[in-house]
Amino acid sequence: MHSAKRIESSPLLSVKDVCVAFGGLNALRDISFDLHRGEILGLIGPNGAGKTTLFNCLSRLYSPKSGEIRLLGENLLAFRRDQIAGRGIGRTFQNIACFGSMTVRQNILTGCHSHMRSSSLAQALRLPSALAEERRFREEIEEVIEWLDLRKDAERLVDDLPFGTRKRVEFARALAMRPKIILLDEPAAGLNHEEVMALGDLIRRTRDERGITVLLVEHHMSLVMSVSDRVVVLNFGEKIAEGAPAQIQKDPEVIRAYLGGHAA
Ligand SMILES: Nc1ncnc2c1ncn2[C@@H]1O[C@H](COP(=O)(O)OP(=O)(O)OP(=O)(O)O)[C@@H](O)[C@H]1O
Ligand SMILES: [Mg+2]
Repeated sequence: MHSAKRIESSPLLSVKDVCVAFGGLNALRDISFDLHRGEILGLIGPNGAGKTTLFNCLSRLYSPKSGEIRLLGENLLAFRRDQIAGRGIGRTFQNIACFGSMTVRQNILTGCHSHMRSSSLAQALRLPSALAEERRFREEIEEVIEWLDLRKDAERLVDDLPFGTRKRVEFARALAMRPKIILLDEPAAGLNHEEVMALGDLIRRTRDERGITVLLVEHHMSLVMSVSDRVVVLNFGEKIAEGAPAQIQKDPEVIRAYLGGHAA
């Protein structure tokens, strides 16, 4: 019973003393924080603070020089980047990474392939188990399409869609992987005011209706402060603050970092 309690209170994701260097540049220095199940955690900081670098460590595109990253206690750094989606981490990119000449539905389907269990041989032979799995994935994709209001665009090429819709397609693809955690890298960039309001709603519903834990990198302060339960602040590769949004907004060091050191 004691151990069950411990598992429940242990973080979903734990980042501990992570350091990343590019040549002589320390992009991340001893970064530690926990992400708890069901939380929306904002990750902010001025340009070049190390936010995307941290995301790239979590999705194993970069390997930290030192430090630990654990998902439910399991060492995430032991996995390859192509195994990360299967471990339950989905992401969107700072620059949209959709396939423009494919349809919306095809793009979302690419998110599912890493999840398919049946072997390629079973799929090629169209064995009942493989067919059942494919049917299940197709149902899931339709559900995500519906949930993200992409039904009328499902057969259109991504290149032909407005920017805001393309961002939703990328979101849909990450959701189709049924992640435990979704990493969103500046989802509000380039969106208009109304789209940002809708995005805030979508992020909350992702947590509330789909039970997905969210790590959100954003420069749009009112969005981060309104949706996040907690906020972690990076500056020049170091963590300078962590706390509730109201606390972060009045933190003198955070204010100084954003004003480029000319405050106070
Ligand atoms: N592959 C790389 N090679 C060399 N330097 C890099 C690389 N990736 C990032 N950097 C550097 O590491 C630092 C952190 O960059 P990063 O992209 O993580 O910042 P960020 O917080 O995401 O900034 P932004 O808000 O502008 O997206 C920057 O100084 C950047 O130039
Ligand atoms: Mg970035």
